[in-house]
Amino acid sequence: MTVHFIGAGPGAADLITLRGRDLIAACPVCLYAGSLVPKELLGHCPEGARIVNTAPLSLDDIVDEIRFAHAAGCDVARLHSGDLSVWSAMGEQLRRLRAEGIPYDVTPGVPAFAAAAALIEAELTLPGVAQSVVLTRTSGRASTMPTGETLEAFAATGATLAIHLSVAALDDVAARLTPYYGPDCPIAVVWRASWPNQRVVRATLATIIAATDGMRGRTALILVGPALTAERFAESRLYAVDYDRRFRPMGDAPRFPAGTE
Ligand SMILES: C[S@@+](CC[C@H](N)C(=O)[O-])C[C@H]1O[C@@H](n2cnc3c(N)ncnc32)[C@H](O)[C@@H]1O
Repeated sequence: MTVHFIGAGPGAADLITLRGRDLIAACPVCLYAGSLVPKELLGHCPEGARIVNTAPLSLDDIVDEIRFAHAAGCDVARLHSGDLSVWSAMGEQLRRLRAEGIPYDVTPGVPAFAAAAALIEAELTLPGVAQSVVLTRTSGRASTMPTGETLEAFAATGATLAIHLSVAALDDVAARLTPYYGPDCPIAVVWRASWPNQRVVRATLATIIAATDGMRGRTALILVGPALTAERFAESRLYAVDYDRRFRPMGDAPRFPAGTE
């Protein structure tokens, strides 16, 4: 018996991996985080599967469900939105399972920041403009930020920011970032990327509050940084015609002669 933690993707039912889909189809128990996991995914469950929405459950209740499945020898598909490596509450579940000796594995999913970047058709790391993406959030009712992980500290690097769980604090976010990125810096707020009701507002730090006109629906990502709209950036050396590299040896004495691994 194994608990399969599966990243369910950002919302569109076809943005789950084939592995994730096949695991759902093979598990007689499915526990899903109902607030953001698309219901269509439950259509992959086998007939007669026990399907439980964990949104209203406590961690103890969820572990009870898993214990019950473990005692019955039933594999469990455990679905969380996006990918499991960020804000999934997987860590605390894995710790409980380790303590109980219950086996598990993890299948990645498409994270929301990637779906949001795809929707605005942006590469978040452009040569000479930004080479880092910071996945972050601001303090919320259930979580405070560790000391040092402030918007100001990240903004000081000039990296592209992907700010989660913070659209309700958009006014504060824009005000805090403006001294670092400047009022003309591009910002995009992306609601429910890949869902049928997805929505995007693009603006600058100076204009985003007026442009969003009070829209503060919870499931949104804030992307900020010059890479969002930059046109003046260098082309990557990797594809330059004269760049000698392993997969395209160049010149009389290539660094990696053909046939070398
Ligand atoms: C609890 S976190 C889950 C993050 C998820 N594990 C991931 O990999 O993206 C929920 C937050 O992620 C963002 N989010 C999740 N799905 C989204 C989507 N489809 N479009 C925009 N933002 C989304 C929002 O900031 C939302 O408040």
